[in-house]
Amino acid sequence: MILRNLSLVLLVLSLKASLPAMAQEGDTVIATRGKEMNIYAEDNETNCLVCHGKLVYTLTDTLTGTVRKQLMSEHNLVVPDLFYSSVHWSFSCLDCHSEGFKTFPHPLETRFETTWGCIDCHGYDPNYAQYRFEEIDQEYQRSVHYTATEGLITCWKCHDPHYYNPLARQTTGGREYILRSNEMCLRCHGNSDIMGLINDENVSIVLPRHEWLPDVDRHMEAVRCIDCHTRMNDSVLVAHEVMPADSAVSGCADCHSKNSILMGTLYKYAARESRDEKGFINGVILRNESYVIGANRSKFISFTGLFLIGMTIAFAMVHTIFRIIIKPKEEVHE
Ligand code: HEC
Ligand code: HEC
Ligand code: HEC
Ligand code: HEC
Ligand code: HEC
Ligand code: HEC
Ligand code: HEC
Repeated sequence: MILRNLSLVLLVLSLKASLPAMAQEGDTVIATRGKEMNIYAEDNETNCLVCHGKLVYTLTDTLTGTVRKQLMSEHNLVVPDLFYSSVHWSFSCLDCHSEGFKTFPHPLETRFETTWGCIDCHGYDPNYAQYRFEEIDQEYQRSVHYTATEGLITCWKCHDPHYYNPLARQTTGGREYILRSNEMCLRCHGNSDIMGLINDENVSIVLPRHEWLPDVDRHMEAVRCIDCHTRMNDSVLVAHEVMPADSAVSGCADCHSKNSILMGTLYKYAARESRDEKGFINGVILRNESYVIGANRSKFISFTGLFLIGMTIAFAMVHTIFRIIIKPKEEVHE
């Protein structure tokens, strides 16, 4: 339990810390983004971000001139730096939101504004063909998220409208990517407040349903939710057809074997890059600094790898436990 909470805290911290760095890591297109490059930046600031860009904003009573500080709910906060480093960095807030939002309090009808879907702008556009939006849209419409909620879970519910960057293309893989990909799912499946928007039933936190795995936390950091829960597809980089839970991968051998599905899904993007350089299996393993037991053809290396991983974890756990036990005592004595 302690470890699970700890890993969630670390996850949130790493998300916050890693964003600007990741934005720079990508190709040159990304380097040209930013507030300075957005021609609407000033309008965005005076119209919207003056309130939505801060945790504390100032409200003025236009009749009496009285000034008052208010808290912006974290759900309505749009962090400017993250917005201007997302794929939609060049937008005006009013490209997607209605003019009605220029008045405050925002009029009732603004609450019912219809928003664009990804496909409205990206569908059948050769500039974005590499992402295969049309195919993703079809997969999504077959997924439980669409069929069981009558479309309430839109693309935006997973892809943050203000901060989105395609992770699978920007990171070189590895643990950070997995954590951030899973965070997109845990936003709902780890938090029942947001679930309340979609489902009246009290939906439980999902992690306990995975306790059939020997070390849940470790597995959740090493595989993506979608690796077990989507139908695989070779033509899109990230499969979107989330299936009902009873069709999820549950066999250990699906991953812990020579031709594991992980090779087809989790490491698809990395494999594409490294296949030519080092040969498929070694390339994948070296590049991600992760080790899939049994993936390597040599039994000896497999065993040694497992042993080493085991020792490392054991050491880390003992170390953590010692820190937890020893720390309070020190404080008491001093
Ligand atoms: C004077 C401060 C202020 C300004 C300026 C402002 N907002 Fe808001 N906005 C708020 C507050 C406070 C809330 C949350 C309370 C509420 O929903 O009224 C909110 C809520 C929202 C919501 C959520 C509505 C919902 O259905 O829950 C959206 C979307 C929004 N604002 C967009 C904008 C946009 C776009 C602009 C610029 C055109 C803007 N706001 C300008 C203070 C402001
Ligand atoms: C690319 C389109 C797009 C742009 C640009 C955009 N928004 Fe949004 N925004 C959305 C969508 C879509 C939603 C509804 C998300 C949902 O359904 O969960 C939203 C929701 C919101 C909300 C409600 C809280 C939330 O996150 O759900 C606020 C507040 C908001 N936007 C403010 C802004 C401000 C301020 C800007 C400019 C800095 C802006 N938006 C720019 C698409 C956009
Ligand atoms: C209102 C139209 C609009 C909507 C809605 C929209 N986009 Fe975009 N998107 C754009 C534009 C325009 C760009 C190019 C921005 C730039 O760099 O100037 C872009 C850029 C992107 C890019 C980067 C493409 C590249 O190769 O550089 C990705 C990925 C992307 N959008 C994904 C999405 C996803 C996912 C959604 C839905 C969750 C979405 N978009 C919704 C208009 C939109
Ligand atoms: C249930 C959550 C969820 C929903 C709903 C969802 N996506 Fe995704 N999507 C993901 C995850 C997770 C990734 C992998 C992380 C990443 O690369 O950003 C992803 C990745 C993507 C990518 C990047 C793929 C690439 O080739 O780099 C695109 C484009 C995309 N989604 C479009 C969409 C569109 C369009 C919709 C709606 C029709 C949608 N998504 C709905 C979870 C979702
Ligand atoms: C916006 C909130 C939200 C997000 C984000 C989200 N889900 Fe869901 N998910 C739901 C809801 C609500 C249901 C329940 C639908 C129903 O059965 O009523 C559901 C159902 C499911 C189911 C089927 C459960 C069953 O009982 O059969 C699976 C599997 C699942 N989600 C996996 C994922 C994965 C994987 C991701 C990330 C890629 C994800 N979800 C992201 C809200 C969300
Ligand atoms: C190793 C494969 C695997 C991984 C990784 C995995 N799941 Fe599951 N998941 C399963 C299986 C198998 C079940 C069905 C368990 C059962 O029937 O009790 C399940 C059950 C579920 C359910 C249904 C829960 C319910 O109460 O009905 C949801 C939702 C879900 N998973 C979401 C997720 C999310 C979100 C992640 C990532 C954080 C994730 N899963 C990671 C295999 C996996
Ligand atoms: C979706 C793929 C997947 C499935 C299914 C899966 N594992 Fe794993 N497992 C992994 C990956 C990837 C690692 C590597 C973890 C790491 O590098 O930290 C791992 C690590 C392990 C480890 C190493 C020790 C540890 O805690 O890290 C053991 C033992 C293990 N799995 C046993 C199992 C068993 C038993 C099952 C079936 C009940 C299972 N796994 C199902 C992917 C999977």
